[in-house]
Amino acid sequence: MHHHPMLNIAVKAARRAGTIINRSSFDLEKLTVAVKKHNDFVTEVDKAAEEAIIDTLMTAYPNHAIIAEESGHSPNLHEESEYVWFIDPLDGTTNFIHGFPQYAVSIALQHNKILTQAVIYDPVHNNLFTATRGSGAFLNNKRLRVSKTDRLTDALIGTGFIGRGRDPEIIKKCLQMFELMAMNCHGLRRPGAATLDLANVAAGRFDGFFEKGLQSWDIAAGALLVMEAGGIVAGFTGETDYLEKGDVIAANPRVFAQMLQLLKPFA
Ligand code: IPD
Ligand code: CA
Ligand code: CA
Repeated sequence: MHHHPMLNIAVKAARRAGTIINRSSFDLEKLTVAVKKHNDFVTEVDKAAEEAIIDTLMTAYPNHAIIAEESGHSPNLHEESEYVWFIDPLDGTTNFIHGFPQYAVSIALQHNKILTQAVIYDPVHNNLFTATRGSGAFLNNKRLRVSKTDRLTDALIGTGFIGRGRDPEIIKKCLQMFELMAMNCHGLRRPGAATLDLANVAAGRFDGFFEKGLQSWDIAAGALLVMEAGGIVAGFTGETDYLEKGDVIAANPRVFAQMLQLLKPFA
């Protein structure tokens, strides 16, 4: 299949990171000793994967700017930066630590503030999700469409809980949303990797997804996948600055409207 050159570079970067993650998952099995040692090792995996991604992208495009989970903003990132890459080298770290096979590499490109390229790579199953603005979303080169489910009552919905911190107020709010959604949809799942949750909306496996408190690198690639698969992505009041705010609802158009209605009070 013919890809945009910038998507090709992103795919190369994601596969390199995936190789590092897969190799580390075998070493992880040996590292059951101390929790501390365990966590340090995982941080090393995140960092090594991110370095491989940045090295690949920067070799090809030395002038592009970067927003990455482990290393933060590149020094050349400005308000007017033309090309900005969003990188989550390992999304679903908790799953990875426990050997629960639901985690991924996520890379997206913004051109003049518009998402143009997206890659989400699941290295366990060798599943490659890609999208280029205006050219559709794909899983291993097979075209993706969001589901055709009409009613929230018939929908399978994905969600996640705030990753960092254990603020009881925030957890309470999350559980209230969880309860309300569970009572209004067919099934509610919390798999633990926001990037794959979004990819699964694009693939029509989930009819919708919602989560509050995410980071731009959790959302960027998945948002383009969902939009290119015919879905809608917005914040909890329907706003478009979800990358900055980190609260997101993504779904097929019919289910999106019903989710928005239900979740608006939690904005
Ligand atoms: C986390 C995952 C999780 C979501 C958290 C994120 P990380 O990312 O996407 O599904 O619920 O909010 O922080 O830390 O594993 O890259
Ligand atoms: Ca993440
Ligand atoms: Ca991460």
